[in-house]
Amino acid sequence: MSKIILTGDRPTGKLHIGHYVGSLRRRVELQNSGEYEKIFIMIADAQALTDNADNPEKVRQNIIEVALDYLSAGLDPSKVNILIQSQIPELTELSFYYMNLVTVSRLQRNPTVKSEIQMRNFETSIPVGFFCYPISQAADITAFKATTVPVGDDQLPMIEQTREIVRKFNDIYGETLVLPDAQIATDEASRRLPGTDGGAKMSKSLGNCIYLSETPADLKTKVMSMYTDPDHIKITDPGKIEGNTVFTYLDAFARPEHFEEYLPDYSNLDELKEHYQRGGLGDVKVKKFLLAVLEETLQPIRARRGEYQQDIAGVYDILKKGSDAAREAAAATLDEVRAAMKINYFTDEALIAEHIKKYKQ
Ligand code: TRP
Repeated sequence: MSKIILTGDRPTGKLHIGHYVGSLRRRVELQNSGEYEKIFIMIADAQALTDNADNPEKVRQNIIEVALDYLSAGLDPSKVNILIQSQIPELTELSFYYMNLVTVSRLQRNPTVKSEIQMRNFETSIPVGFFCYPISQAADITAFKATTVPVGDDQLPMIEQTREIVRKFNDIYGETLVLPDAQIATDEASRRLPGTDGGAKMSKSLGNCIYLSETPADLKTKVMSMYTDPDHIKITDPGKIEGNTVFTYLDAFARPEHFEEYLPDYSNLDELKEHYQRGGLGDVKVKKFLLAVLEETLQPIRARRGEYQQDIAGVYDILKKGSDAAREAAAATLDEVRAAMKINYFTDEALIAEHIKKYKQ
């Protein structure tokens, strides 16, 4: 069976380095591995509208931002289709059929939906579209017959729900859909990169994000004011690594080459951590090292963004081509789905013949 990737993001803001280590850099690796026959990366505008129905301008403005972030992170339009979800109406059709295979109580149990409902104060009035977005996400994944879904670990319940829908569909209507697997980052720090304030997650509204497109000056300000160990006051004090955001970021980003280049007194992160815990290593030195590592990571991304920003019409063209190719793939799946569900009246000659025979006198 051919290997196919589908994944995506909601266009509600620029992508940040949490997206990068959580999923984006893996997508680029998978793209370059040559192992995948087709790769679809979706800008999930319809899903973004499920909790931003009153703010379509926000979604509209962020499509180009996410597209620029994708391209600058290294997704290559000659290898992947970048598509806009709403431009593939087959996805909506498929969602409607899947709704018959999912119960309200199952959706209520979805942990990601649960916590999002809380975060948005939706408890008393949940928009139906929002409540059902895991079903639409199952449609996103299965319409492209994706085998592999590289995502952040908050998306695991969505993939689980998708797998249930696939099993149920195939069970009732015959083997049609492909069972997808999630792929998440292998290390803890990359799976859950905290905000610069040490908060559990980067979030635009909390102002604790480092964006992929961060300028060098803003990057410096943000890194130098990052949360560390509040009890590490004097350089000579022993410091804590656990919950120390600077070290968590180093876990996610630092490689041995970075030590060689920027901090040759240490050969790896373990040595640096050991010194910090022992005492005698100041926060500023560690932060400066992190800044160098992040700058090295973000510099090429920023440069590529600069180039694409000079060709916005070209970026829209990439999105149009990606969406067209995606629509073709989804339409082919929908043909199979309609046939399996016996709603392919006009292309099923056997059905027509059967009914001719039934009423022939
Ligand atoms: N729910 C994802 C997010 O919040 C976006 C998304 C929509 C997605 N459809 C998808 C991710 C399909 C993976 C597969 O970022």
